[in-house]
Amino acid sequence: MTATLARHPALEQLIEGVREAVGVRADWPATAGLVADRLRRCLPTPAILTPEQRLGDPDRARGHVLHIEPDSSFSVLAVVWRPGQGTRIHDHTTWCVFGGLQGVEHEIVYDEDLNPIGENDNHPGDVSGFAPPGDIHKVVNRTSVNAITLHIYGTDVSRIGSSVRRYYN
Ligand SMILES: [Fe+2]
Repeated sequence: MTATLARHPALEQLIEGVREAVGVRADWPATAGLVADRLRRCLPTPAILTPEQRLGDPDRARGHVLHIEPDSSFSVLAVVWRPGQGTRIHDHTTWCVFGGLQGVEHEIVYDEDLNPIGENDNHPGDVSGFAPPGDIHKVVNRTSVNAITLHIYGTDVSRIGSSVRRYYN
């Protein structure tokens, strides 16, 4: 993952809103809901990434860290998914909020025994938030064009390396 230098005004507005939502100090599920509300109100466009970043990476889905809150309370990332790129089944160390910026990301949700229990197509403008437990999923871009998603996690992803708690095989 790489940090971007330019700060888009829409990103600054979003960060301010997330800071307020996290400052309520609610529990994880409630925080995910409050942050999702903020992201719905201030969803940036794909222009928060450079044209070069929006091209993605032929080897893997490519994350770009856009912001790490100084007190480590949250991180904002954008991920570029080329056609066919996705994740393995995983869960998370903290609350998470996602928003679609471009293209369609397909999500499959699993129960604790790894039975698929739901599927969603996340389009631009779709925002969802959740918190562990009950957050086992995988995502994949099943389309023929790049998808871009915005992710907000309740931790410093640069310090712990990732938002993933565990991968399942
Ligand atoms: Fe995830």
